Amino acid sequence: MATPSAPADRCPVAHDGSERKTARGADPTAPALEQREGTWHVRSYAAVRQVLREADATRQAGFNAEMATRTGLRPPVLFEDGVAHRDHRTAIARFFTPKTVDDAYRVLMEEASDKLIADLERRGRADLSDLSLDLAMQVAARVVGLTDSRAPGMAQRLEKILALERLERLPPLRRATSMLRVNLHVLRFFLQDVRPAIRARRKEPREDVISHLIEKGYTNGEILIECITYGAAGMATTREFIVMAAWHLLEHDELRRSYLAADEPERHRVLHEILRLEPVVGHLYRRATADVHVDVDGVTTTIPAGALIDLDVRAANADADAVGAAPLCLRPDRDRAPRVQEPVLSFGDGAHRCPGAFIAIKESDAFLTRLLRLPLTVVGEPRLGWNDLIEGYEVRGLEVAVHARAAGSMH
Ligand code: HEM
Repeated sequence: MATPSAPADRCPVAHDGSERKTARGADPTAPALEQREGTWHVRSYAAVRQVLREADATRQAGFNAEMATRTGLRPPVLFEDGVAHRDHRTAIARFFTPKTVDDAYRVLMEEASDKLIADLERRGRADLSDLSLDLAMQVAARVVGLTDSRAPGMAQRLEKILALERLERLPPLRRATSMLRVNLHVLRFFLQDVRPAIRARRKEPREDVISHLIEKGYTNGEILIECITYGAAGMATTREFIVMAAWHLLEHDELRRSYLAADEPERHRVLHEILRLEPVVGHLYRRATADVHVDVDGVTTTIPAGALIDLDVRAANADADAVGAAPLCLRPDRDRAPRVQEPVLSFGDGAHRCPGAFIAIKESDAFLTRLLRLPLTVVGEPRLGWNDLIEGYEVRGLEVAVHARAAGSMH
């Protein structure tokens, strides 16, 4: 694919040296490893990856995990550790292989995208975050098995639950009211969406996550928590990524043209590069359960057992040692160091690495190739928000209008 060419150390488009739209927290002078106010901050690609691979010396400490695991219920896969986690991942791997994605979800991704695009053409305009929410919900729901809801609106019910704040940062009273509010949304989601799905699968199991959990003896409460986890991990993330990718591709005419003209592996490469530059999950957290020895430039530092570790994915993804020159530029053909994957650490690494990575890129591509072939005008200014729970961006207000093909159109 022809990709924009530029001098090796400069962005082809931006003049301030960065094409990252989410400016928060990128301090290129910050050290690769430091301890500040009791937390260890890790920022280089190699050190972040090393900690993520220390599955036996760390446990999950992000996404409110340390508060949620006090419930006494069996934790969802994202919060599990050790042998139980490894067994769980092995058992669910079959839902995420490229073959399963092709056989079981590809048609859904294509048909859902076709329908969303047809609706957009009929209505004339839409906020892309509404369309991407709908698509990401449908795909995640199929993987999980949330397909028997009693009423439409599951995506909105889940969205309300996921608006939960970072609990450990709140004073006790606000924490309690925040929990109460969210519990009401959880109850509604259980009654409308999760319970009907469980009942249907107890009668007749299918090839999906809920059927697997029933077979393993999970209680209704435990299945509910797993469903919310997939909502956050699978739906909210993909929704944001699709809008961010659309934003970049709508703005960069040359990149958009080459994306649309490319074959699938090349298109995925473009999407991976956008995700590298704009990781949806900006920070991951781990608690050291044993001493963790981290190497930075030949010096070994020991993070002691019990310490909280903040893994800065945004910084690691822009580490020039791993991703080559001009790390804050969007360059699908960039010269990465050997064994550094295209999305770098945007899907995590090690034991908890995202199982849905292939699904996310495949569904984004199905939608974006259809969307970007339309004659579009951007009519709404995108607004960037921040989700404290996943330390990631939210893009709202990116509205597009479909217009008659004419001179001055984007194509
Ligand atoms: C662009 C979209 C996505 C991004 C950026 C993303 C990112 C991530 C990241 C960074 C993790 C690792 C968390 C950690 O190490 O603490 C993760 C885990 C996970 N993701 Fe994704 N994800 C995406 C889409 C999906 C989809 C589509 C699904 C399923 C339908 C999914 C299901 C999961 C699950 C179940 C986990 C937990 C795995 C474990 O803890 O073993 N994700 N994701």
